[in-house]
Amino acid sequence: SLVPMKLLLDKALEGKFAYGAFNVHTTNEVKAAIEIHETFRSPVILQIIEFATGFIAGREDFLNATLEEKIEGIKIITEKVKEAAKKTDIPVVLHLDHGHDKELVKACIDEGFTSVMIDGSYLPFEENIALTKEIADYAHKKGVTVEGELGVLAGREDNANHSGSLYTDPNKVCEFFEKTGVDCLAISYGTSHGAAKGKDVVISKEIAIASYENMKFKNIKGSLVSHGSSTVPKYLVEGINKLDGKLKNAHGIPIEQVLEVVPYGIAKVNVGTDIRLAITRYIREYFKNNKNIDDNSRVGQIKKIIEDRPELIDERVYL
Ligand code: G3H
Ligand code: 13P
Ligand code: NA
Ligand code: ZN
Repeated sequence: SLVPMKLLLDKALEGKFAYGAFNVHTTNEVKAAIEIHETFRSPVILQIIEFATGFIAGREDFLNATLEEKIEGIKIITEKVKEAAKKTDIPVVLHLDHGHDKELVKACIDEGFTSVMIDGSYLPFEENIALTKEIADYAHKKGVTVEGELGVLAGREDNANHSGSLYTDPNKVCEFFEKTGVDCLAISYGTSHGAAKGKDVVISKEIAIASYENMKFKNIKGSLVSHGSSTVPKYLVEGINKLDGKLKNAHGIPIEQVLEVVPYGIAKVNVGTDIRLAITRYIREYFKNNKNIDDNSRVGQIKKIIEDRPELIDERVYL
């Protein structure tokens, strides 16, 4: 059944472990993610990034989808996840990842998402607090979990590309929790979004530990979230590039580093890029083996995107 994410976060916090949260972009990915979690007997956190909603709605130029089209995508995916959640015996969370548009975030809450992220991390501190609090108040009335973000991750994030990261200040974490009422908080501590995280990237364990210690001292019950945590497996990168992909500087976060910080209040670990890499490799293989694809079919549309804008597919999209 569908459950609020808070239920899982509390368990993870108590047991000092973390759940993986996986970005899914199509109904097939929803199915695959649920099946793999069933085999591990684990609850599943499915998360949807804003630009995937336009894609799900069938908009070819999905990066420029309108709010209405995005909401249409949200309705489609919520319906599919609700159906799937009825059929499986594992708890399912449907979470909006990196929500920026208030109206879109509220639509997710209204449609039945059990968790949303409101990402006000690019705003000045007080404005981030005001926006996040508004969403938290709205969501909590309906039993929906809320994630906020403090600090800016380098790399690609939704429609923006950030060259520099701004680490989270552990001394602002408690104030953020207290003033917004969020259930969990994404921190910037050395990870970044996308497949190019740096050759020898090192997570700042100190930021997680200091945030966690401050929270314990103030008796704050929330948890922390690790974004940008893909490991970027070599076999996928090589597989894509053998199929004419042009991935450069592809390096992920060594899993050991993530596992080392998990006991310090990190209850959720976000993975999106690894999924898109796996799917990209598959798509490239499919196109190589299937020459007669109807241009007007959905698959044909995607083929066109790959040919016209290969950087989109390899760096942040999927299908
Ligand atoms: O954080 C949101 C998206 O997952 C960004 O894409 O996984 O390539 O960073 P990414
Ligand atoms: P990756 O780019 O490491 O997969 O990060 C995903 C993420 O943080 C989604 O919010
Ligand atoms: Na951010
Ligand atoms: Zn993220």
